[in-house]
Amino acid sequence: MSLPQSQTGTDLFPIERVRRDFPTLHQEVHGRPLVYLDSAASALKPQAVVDTIARCYLRDYSNVHRGVHDLSRRATEQYEAARETVRAFLGAEASEEIVFTRGTTESINLVASSWGGANLKEGDEILLTGLEHHSNIVPWQLLRQRTGARIVVAEIGDDGDVPLEALTSKMGPRTKMVAIAHVSNALGTVLPVAEVTKAAHEVGAVVLVDGAQAAPHLPVNVQELGADFYALSGHKLYGPTGIGVLYGRRDLLEAMPPYQGGGDMIRQVTFEKTTFADPPAKFEAGTPHIAGAIGLGAAIDYLESLGRPAIRRWEEELLAYGTERLEAEPGIRLVGTAPRKAGVLSFLVEGVHPHDVGTIVDLEGVAIRTGHHCAQPVMDRFGIPATSRASLGLYNTREDIDRLIEALRKVKETFA
Ligand code: ALA
Repeated sequence: MSLPQSQTGTDLFPIERVRRDFPTLHQEVHGRPLVYLDSAASALKPQAVVDTIARCYLRDYSNVHRGVHDLSRRATEQYEAARETVRAFLGAEASEEIVFTRGTTESINLVASSWGGANLKEGDEILLTGLEHHSNIVPWQLLRQRTGARIVVAEIGDDGDVPLEALTSKMGPRTKMVAIAHVSNALGTVLPVAEVTKAAHEVGAVVLVDGAQAAPHLPVNVQELGADFYALSGHKLYGPTGIGVLYGRRDLLEAMPPYQGGGDMIRQVTFEKTTFADPPAKFEAGTPHIAGAIGLGAAIDYLESLGRPAIRRWEEELLAYGTERLEAEPGIRLVGTAPRKAGVLSFLVEGVHPHDVGTIVDLEGVAIRTGHHCAQPVMDRFGIPATSRASLGLYNTREDIDRLIEALRKVKETFA
Protein backbone atom coordinates (compact mmCIF):
# COMPACT_ATOMS: atom_id res chain seq x y z
CA MET A 1 0.00 0.00 0.00
CA SER A 2 3.00 2.32 0.25
CA LEU A 3 3.00 5.04 -2.34
CA PRO A 4 6.14 6.42 -3.95
CA GLN A 5 7.21 9.57 -2.11
CA SER A 6 6.67 11.76 -5.18
CA GLN A 7 2.96 10.92 -5.21
CA THR A 8 2.29 11.29 -1.55
CA GLY A 9 2.12 15.03 -1.10
CA THR A 10 4.38 14.53 1.92
CA ASP A 11 6.78 17.06 0.55
CA LEU A 12 3.90 19.50 -0.10
CA PHE A 13 2.25 19.34 3.30
CA PRO A 14 3.89 21.67 5.86
CA ILE A 15 3.70 19.16 8.72
CA GLU A 16 6.34 20.80 10.91
CA ARG A 17 4.56 24.14 10.81
CA VAL A 18 1.21 22.42 11.34
CA ARG A 19 2.51 20.68 14.45
CA ARG A 20 3.84 23.97 15.80
CA ASP A 21 0.31 25.39 15.39
CA PHE A 22 -1.05 22.89 17.96
CA PRO A 23 0.48 23.69 21.37
CA THR A 24 -1.23 20.71 23.07
CA LEU A 25 0.95 18.32 21.10
CA HIS A 26 4.11 19.58 22.72
CA GLN A 27 3.99 17.98 26.13
CA GLU A 28 5.00 14.78 27.84
CA VAL A 29 2.46 12.28 29.15
CA HIS A 30 3.75 9.73 31.67
CA GLY A 31 7.25 10.92 30.82
CA ARG A 32 6.92 10.29 27.08
CA PRO A 33 6.27 12.82 24.29
CA LEU A 34 2.53 12.81 23.61
CA VAL A 35 1.20 11.00 20.54
CA TYR A 36 -2.41 12.03 20.04
CA LEU A 37 -4.42 9.46 18.10
CA ASP A 38 -7.90 10.33 19.36
CA SER A 39 -9.03 13.07 16.99
CA ALA A 40 -12.24 11.22 16.10
CA ALA A 41 -13.34 11.74 19.71
CA SER A 42 -12.22 15.35 19.71
CA ALA A 43 -9.54 17.12 17.73
CA LEU A 44 -6.88 19.38 19.25
CA LYS A 45 -7.13 23.12 18.61
CA PRO A 46 -4.71 25.26 16.65
CA GLN A 47 -3.41 28.45 18.25
CA ALA A 48 -5.39 30.49 15.69
CA VAL A 49 -8.69 29.12 17.05
CA VAL A 50 -7.75 29.78 20.67
CA ASP A 51 -6.55 33.30 19.77
CA THR A 52 -9.81 34.01 17.93
CA ILE A 53 -11.91 32.89 20.89
CA ALA A 54 -9.77 34.96 23.26
CA ARG A 55 -10.10 38.02 21.01
CA CYS A 56 -13.84 37.51 20.86
CA TYR A 57 -14.22 37.41 24.65
CA LEU A 58 -11.56 40.02 25.41
CA ARG A 59 -12.38 42.64 22.76
CA ASP A 60 -15.35 42.14 20.47
CA TYR A 61 -17.82 40.53 22.82
CA SER A 62 -21.48 41.28 23.38
CA ASN A 63 -24.77 39.62 22.48
CA VAL A 64 -25.62 39.26 18.80
CA HIS A 65 -28.61 40.55 16.79
CA ARG A 66 -29.76 42.58 19.79
CA GLY A 67 -27.72 45.70 20.33
CA VAL A 68 -27.25 48.94 18.41
CA HIS A 69 -23.95 49.55 20.16
CA ASP A 70 -20.59 48.92 18.59
CA LEU A 71 -19.61 45.79 20.53
CA SER A 72 -22.86 44.08 19.58
CA ARG A 73 -22.38 45.13 15.96
CA ARG A 74 -18.84 43.67 15.92
CA ALA A 75 -19.95 40.41 17.56
CA THR A 76 -22.90 40.11 15.17
CA GLU A 77 -20.72 40.75 12.13
CA GLN A 78 -18.22 38.10 13.20
CA TYR A 79 -20.95 35.60 14.08
CA GLU A 80 -22.62 36.04 10.69
CA ALA A 81 -19.23 35.98 8.93
CA ALA A 82 -18.66 32.57 10.54
CA ARG A 83 -21.97 31.39 9.09
CA GLU A 84 -20.80 32.49 5.66
CA THR A 85 -17.49 30.66 6.21
CA VAL A 86 -19.43 27.47 7.03
CA ARG A 87 -21.63 27.98 3.95
CA ALA A 88 -18.60 28.17 1.68
CA PHE A 89 -16.94 25.22 3.47
CA LEU A 90 -19.99 23.03 2.79
CA GLY A 91 -20.70 24.39 -0.68
CA ALA A 92 -24.22 25.39 0.34
CA GLU A 93 -26.17 27.78 -1.83
CA ALA A 94 -27.17 30.29 0.85
CA SER A 95 -26.04 31.16 4.37
CA GLU A 96 -29.71 30.97 5.46
CA GLU A 97 -29.29 27.21 5.07
CA ILE A 98 -26.68 27.11 7.86
CA VAL A 99 -28.07 26.71 11.38
CA PHE A 100 -25.72 26.84 14.37
CA THR A 101 -26.44 24.10 16.91
CA ARG A 102 -24.58 22.57 19.84
CA GLY A 103 -23.18 19.81 17.65
CA THR A 104 -24.05 16.92 15.38
CA THR A 105 -26.23 15.34 18.05
CA GLU A 106 -28.39 18.43 18.39
CA SER A 107 -28.52 18.88 14.61
CA ILE A 108 -29.91 15.37 14.15
CA ASN A 109 -32.34 15.76 17.05
CA LEU A 110 -33.52 19.00 15.48
CA VAL A 111 -34.32 17.30 12.19
CA ALA A 112 -35.89 14.23 13.79
CA SER A 113 -38.04 16.33 16.04
CA SER A 114 -39.01 19.16 13.70
CA TRP A 115 -38.97 17.65 10.20
CA GLY A 116 -39.81 14.16 11.41
CA GLY A 117 -42.60 15.30 13.70
CA ALA A 118 -44.18 17.26 10.87
CA ASN A 119 -43.72 14.74 8.08
CA LEU A 120 -43.76 11.17 9.37
CA LYS A 121 -46.73 9.03 10.26
CA GLU A 122 -47.35 5.41 11.21
CA GLY A 123 -45.91 2.96 8.71
CA ASP A 124 -43.45 5.42 7.17
CA GLU A 125 -39.88 4.18 7.11
CA ILE A 126 -36.62 5.69 8.30
CA LEU A 127 -33.66 3.93 6.71
CA LEU A 128 -30.40 3.81 8.69
CA THR A 129 -27.24 1.76 8.30
CA GLY A 130 -25.79 -0.70 10.79
CA LEU A 131 -22.77 1.51 11.36
CA GLU A 132 -24.50 4.58 12.73
CA HIS A 133 -23.38 6.37 15.87
CA HIS A 134 -25.97 6.37 18.65
CA SER A 135 -26.67 10.01 17.82
CA ASN A 136 -28.02 8.89 14.45
CA ILE A 137 -30.11 6.08 15.95
CA VAL A 138 -31.67 7.26 19.19
CA PRO A 139 -33.31 10.47 17.87
CA TRP A 140 -35.08 8.32 15.25
CA GLN A 141 -36.20 5.86 17.93
CA LEU A 142 -37.68 8.77 19.88
CA LEU A 143 -39.45 9.85 16.71
CA ARG A 144 -40.67 6.29 16.17
CA GLN A 145 -42.31 6.43 19.61
CA ARG A 146 -44.04 9.68 18.69
CA THR A 147 -45.20 8.77 15.21
CA GLY A 148 -45.29 5.00 14.77
CA ALA A 149 -42.78 5.24 11.93
CA ARG A 150 -40.57 2.17 11.39
CA ILE A 151 -36.78 1.97 11.45
CA VAL A 152 -35.18 -0.13 8.73
CA VAL A 153 -31.47 -0.97 8.84
CA ALA A 154 -29.06 -1.63 5.95
CA GLU A 155 -26.58 -4.23 7.17
CA ILE A 156 -22.81 -3.91 7.36
CA GLY A 157 -20.68 -6.38 5.38
CA ASP A 158 -17.83 -8.37 6.92
CA ASP A 159 -15.28 -5.75 5.89
CA GLY A 160 -17.23 -2.94 7.56
CA ASP A 161 -18.62 -1.56 4.32
CA VAL A 162 -22.27 -0.87 3.61
CA PRO A 163 -22.51 -1.37 -0.13
CA LEU A 164 -24.92 0.81 -2.09
CA GLU A 165 -27.19 -2.20 -2.83
CA ALA A 166 -27.57 -2.88 0.90
CA LEU A 167 -29.23 0.52 1.10
CA THR A 168 -31.07 0.69 -2.21
CA SER A 169 -32.59 -2.77 -1.70
CA LYS A 170 -34.30 -1.41 1.44
CA MET A 171 -35.68 1.71 -0.24
CA GLY A 172 -39.28 1.85 -1.40
CA PRO A 173 -42.40 3.99 -1.43
CA ARG A 174 -42.60 3.94 2.38
CA THR A 175 -39.04 5.27 2.80
CA LYS A 176 -39.37 8.87 3.90
CA MET A 177 -36.00 9.52 5.53
CA VAL A 178 -32.58 8.04 4.85
CA ALA A 179 -30.17 8.99 7.65
CA ILE A 180 -26.59 7.83 7.15
CA ALA A 181 -23.08 8.57 8.31
CA HIS A 182 -20.73 10.00 5.72
CA VAL A 183 -17.83 8.35 7.60
CA SER A 184 -18.25 5.75 10.36
CA ASN A 185 -16.70 6.85 13.65
CA ALA A 186 -16.12 3.27 14.77
CA LEU A 187 -14.66 1.80 11.56
CA GLY A 188 -13.75 4.71 9.29
CA THR A 189 -15.86 3.41 6.39
CA VAL A 190 -16.75 6.11 3.85
CA LEU A 191 -20.28 5.63 2.56
CA PRO A 192 -21.25 6.38 -1.07
CA VAL A 193 -23.38 9.37 -0.09
CA ALA A 194 -23.92 10.88 -3.55
CA GLU A 195 -25.22 7.56 -4.92
CA VAL A 196 -27.40 7.05 -1.84
CA THR A 197 -29.01 10.49 -2.12
CA LYS A 198 -29.71 9.90 -5.82
CA ALA A 199 -31.47 6.60 -5.11
CA ALA A 200 -33.29 8.02 -2.08
CA HIS A 201 -34.59 10.98 -4.08
CA GLU A 202 -35.91 8.58 -6.73
CA VAL A 203 -38.22 7.06 -4.11
CA GLY A 204 -39.12 10.49 -2.74
CA ALA A 205 -37.11 10.24 0.50
CA VAL A 206 -35.18 13.00 2.20
CA VAL A 207 -31.54 12.36 3.18
CA LEU A 208 -29.75 13.42 6.33
CA VAL A 209 -26.01 12.92 6.40
CA ASP A 210 -24.12 12.68 9.70
CA GLY A 211 -20.92 14.40 8.64
CA ALA A 212 -19.26 14.57 12.07
CA GLN A 213 -16.39 12.28 11.03
CA ALA A 214 -16.27 13.32 7.39
CA ALA A 215 -15.93 17.09 7.58
CA PRO A 216 -12.46 16.94 9.20
CA HIS A 217 -11.13 14.58 6.53
CA LEU A 218 -12.93 14.91 3.19
CA PRO A 219 -13.80 17.83 0.98
CA VAL A 220 -17.59 18.15 1.43
CA ASN A 221 -19.99 19.80 -0.98
CA VAL A 222 -23.60 19.36 0.07
CA GLN A 223 -24.94 20.26 -3.35
CA GLU A 224 -22.73 17.76 -5.14
CA LEU A 225 -23.61 15.13 -2.52
CA GLY A 226 -27.30 15.95 -2.93
CA ALA A 227 -27.70 16.02 0.89
CA ASP A 228 -30.94 17.52 2.15
CA PHE A 229 -29.51 17.85 5.65
CA TYR A 230 -25.86 17.67 6.69
CA ALA A 231 -24.76 17.71 10.34
CA LEU A 232 -21.32 18.36 11.81
CA SER A 233 -19.57 19.21 15.08
CA GLY A 234 -17.08 22.01 15.64
CA HIS A 235 -14.93 20.15 18.14
CA LYS A 236 -14.01 17.39 15.70
CA LEU A 237 -13.13 20.02 13.13
CA TYR A 238 -10.36 21.61 15.24
CA GLY A 239 -12.89 24.14 16.55
CA PRO A 240 -14.54 24.70 19.92
CA THR A 241 -16.80 22.30 21.78
CA GLY A 242 -20.49 23.10 22.11
CA ILE A 243 -20.89 24.38 18.56
CA GLY A 244 -22.08 22.52 15.52
CA VAL A 245 -23.89 22.98 12.27
CA LEU A 246 -27.02 21.82 10.60
CA TYR A 247 -27.13 22.46 6.87
CA GLY A 248 -30.67 22.18 5.60
CA ARG A 249 -32.07 22.76 2.13
CA ARG A 250 -33.79 26.12 2.25
CA ASP A 251 -37.27 24.89 1.24
CA LEU A 252 -37.15 22.17 3.88
CA LEU A 253 -36.04 24.55 6.65
CA GLU A 254 -38.70 27.07 5.62
CA ALA A 255 -41.44 24.47 5.90
CA MET A 256 -40.26 23.02 9.22
CA PRO A 257 -41.73 24.08 12.57
CA PRO A 258 -39.37 25.51 15.21
CA TYR A 259 -37.44 23.07 17.34
CA GLN A 260 -37.20 25.27 20.44
CA GLY A 261 -38.94 28.51 21.35
CA GLY A 262 -37.36 31.63 22.79
CA GLY A 263 -35.67 34.89 21.94
CA ASP A 264 -34.32 35.68 18.47
CA MET A 265 -36.43 33.03 16.68
CA ILE A 266 -39.62 35.08 16.49
CA ARG A 267 -41.11 37.76 14.30
CA GLN A 268 -43.83 38.86 16.70
CA VAL A 269 -45.04 37.59 20.07
CA THR A 270 -48.37 38.23 21.75
CA PHE A 271 -49.99 36.03 24.39
CA GLU A 272 -52.48 34.91 21.76
CA LYS A 273 -50.12 34.10 18.91
CA THR A 274 -46.48 34.09 17.90
CA THR A 275 -45.07 34.27 14.40
CA PHE A 276 -41.61 32.96 13.66
CA ALA A 277 -38.50 34.37 12.04
CA ASP A 278 -37.19 32.92 8.80
CA PRO A 279 -34.42 30.28 8.88
CA PRO A 280 -31.80 30.15 10.22
CA ALA A 281 -33.02 32.39 13.10
CA LYS A 282 -36.15 30.23 13.47
CA PHE A 283 -33.90 27.41 14.70
CA GLU A 284 -31.53 29.45 16.90
CA ALA A 285 -33.63 30.21 19.97
CA GLY A 286 -31.85 32.05 22.79
CA THR A 287 -28.39 33.53 22.94
CA PRO A 288 -26.26 31.31 20.74
CA HIS A 289 -22.70 30.10 21.33
CA ILE A 290 -21.26 33.30 19.89
CA ALA A 291 -17.58 32.65 20.57
CA GLY A 292 -18.06 29.03 19.51
CA ALA A 293 -19.39 29.97 16.10
CA ILE A 294 -16.65 32.55 15.59
CA GLY A 295 -14.06 30.00 16.74
CA LEU A 296 -15.47 27.45 14.32
CA GLY A 297 -15.08 30.00 11.53
CA ALA A 298 -11.42 30.35 12.52
CA ALA A 299 -10.98 26.56 12.51
CA ILE A 300 -12.38 26.36 8.99
CA ASP A 301 -10.15 29.23 7.86
CA TYR A 302 -7.23 27.27 9.27
CA LEU A 303 -8.20 24.11 7.36
CA GLU A 304 -8.75 26.04 4.17
CA SER A 305 -5.33 27.69 4.52
CA LEU A 306 -3.82 24.19 4.29
CA GLY A 307 -6.25 23.06 1.60
CA ARG A 308 -8.65 20.19 2.13
CA PRO A 309 -7.32 18.12 -0.80
CA ALA A 310 -3.81 18.43 0.68
CA ILE A 311 -5.11 17.35 4.11
CA ARG A 312 -6.89 14.41 2.50
CA ARG A 313 -3.75 13.30 0.68
CA TRP A 314 -1.65 13.59 3.84
CA GLU A 315 -4.13 11.61 5.92
CA GLU A 316 -4.71 8.99 3.22
CA GLU A 317 -1.05 8.24 3.18
CA LEU A 318 -0.96 7.97 6.97
CA LEU A 319 -4.01 5.72 6.97
CA ALA A 320 -2.37 3.46 4.39
CA TYR A 321 0.83 3.39 6.44
CA GLY A 322 -1.06 2.65 9.67
CA THR A 323 -3.08 -0.11 7.98
CA GLU A 324 0.08 -1.68 6.60
CA ARG A 325 1.86 -1.58 9.98
CA LEU A 326 -1.08 -2.95 11.97
CA GLU A 327 -1.76 -5.70 9.42
CA ALA A 328 1.88 -6.76 9.59
CA GLU A 329 1.85 -6.96 13.40
CA PRO A 330 1.26 -10.47 14.81
CA GLY A 331 -1.69 -10.75 17.19
CA ILE A 332 -3.43 -7.64 15.90
CA ARG A 333 -6.62 -7.70 13.86
CA LEU A 334 -8.10 -4.68 12.13
CA VAL A 335 -11.87 -4.31 12.40
CA GLY A 336 -13.14 -2.43 9.39
CA THR A 337 -11.25 -2.85 6.13
CA ALA A 338 -13.70 -1.27 3.70
CA PRO A 339 -12.25 -0.15 0.37
CA ARG A 340 -12.93 3.52 1.15
CA LYS A 341 -11.96 4.70 4.61
CA ALA A 342 -11.02 7.91 6.37
CA GLY A 343 -9.24 8.71 9.59
CA VAL A 344 -9.87 5.59 11.69
CA LEU A 345 -7.96 2.43 12.55
CA SER A 346 -10.06 0.17 14.79
CA PHE A 347 -8.35 -3.01 15.97
CA LEU A 348 -8.20 -5.84 18.48
CA VAL A 349 -5.14 -7.17 20.27
CA GLU A 350 -5.51 -10.92 20.63
CA GLY A 351 -6.37 -11.95 24.19
CA VAL A 352 -6.31 -8.41 25.62
CA HIS A 353 -9.36 -6.33 26.48
CA PRO A 354 -9.35 -3.00 24.62
CA HIS A 355 -9.49 -1.06 27.90
CA ASP A 356 -6.24 -2.72 28.99
CA VAL A 357 -4.75 -1.87 25.59
CA GLY A 358 -5.76 1.78 26.03
CA THR A 359 -4.36 1.96 29.56
CA ILE A 360 -1.00 0.47 28.65
CA VAL A 361 -0.47 2.54 25.51
CA ASP A 362 -1.39 5.65 27.53
CA LEU A 363 1.52 4.87 29.86
CA GLU A 364 3.68 5.00 26.72
CA GLY A 365 2.32 8.49 25.95
CA VAL A 366 -0.04 7.32 23.20
CA ALA A 367 -3.68 8.48 23.42
CA ILE A 368 -6.24 6.26 21.71
CA ARG A 369 -9.91 5.57 22.41
CA THR A 370 -11.20 2.20 23.54
CA GLY A 371 -14.77 1.01 23.98
CA HIS A 372 -17.85 0.74 21.81
CA HIS A 373 -17.38 4.26 20.42
CA CYS A 374 -21.08 5.08 20.91
CA ALA A 375 -21.82 2.56 18.17
CA GLN A 376 -22.93 -0.56 20.05
CA PRO A 377 -24.76 -2.07 17.04
CA VAL A 378 -21.41 -2.09 15.18
CA MET A 379 -19.81 -4.04 18.02
CA ASP A 380 -22.79 -6.44 18.07
CA ARG A 381 -22.41 -6.96 14.32
CA PHE A 382 -18.84 -8.13 14.81
CA GLY A 383 -19.61 -10.04 18.00
CA ILE A 384 -17.19 -8.00 20.12
CA PRO A 385 -17.74 -5.73 23.12
CA ALA A 386 -15.27 -3.05 22.10
CA THR A 387 -12.29 -2.13 19.97
CA SER A 388 -9.17 -0.04 20.35
CA ARG A 389 -9.31 2.88 17.98
CA ALA A 390 -6.48 5.06 16.72
CA SER A 391 -7.88 8.04 14.85
CA LEU A 392 -5.95 10.49 12.77
CA GLY A 393 -5.76 14.24 12.62
CA LEU A 394 -3.90 16.44 10.18
CA TYR A 395 -1.06 16.82 12.72
CA ASN A 396 -0.22 13.11 12.88
CA THR A 397 2.89 11.59 11.34
CA ARG A 398 4.35 8.22 10.45
CA GLU A 399 6.40 8.49 13.63
CA ASP A 400 3.14 8.59 15.60
CA ILE A 401 2.10 5.31 13.99
CA ASP A 402 5.52 3.84 14.79
CA ARG A 403 5.07 4.90 18.44
CA LEU A 404 1.65 3.22 18.48
CA ILE A 405 3.13 -0.03 17.19
CA GLU A 406 5.93 0.16 19.75
CA ALA A 407 3.33 0.69 22.52
CA LEU A 408 1.24 -2.22 21.23
CA ARG A 409 4.31 -4.44 21.47
CA LYS A 410 4.51 -3.46 25.17
CA VAL A 411 0.85 -4.52 25.51
CA LYS A 412 1.63 -7.88 23.98
CA GLU A 413 4.71 -8.34 26.20
CA THR A 414 2.64 -7.49 29.29
CA PHE A 415 0.03 -10.11 28.46
CA ALA A 416 2.44 -12.72 27.00
N1 ALA B 1 -18.33 10.34 18.58
C1 ALA B 1 -17.05 10.51 19.16
C2 ALA B 1 -16.13 9.34 18.93
O1 ALA B 1 -16.31 8.63 17.98
C3 ALA B 1 -17.10 10.93 20.58
O2 ALA B 1 -15.23 9.13 19.69
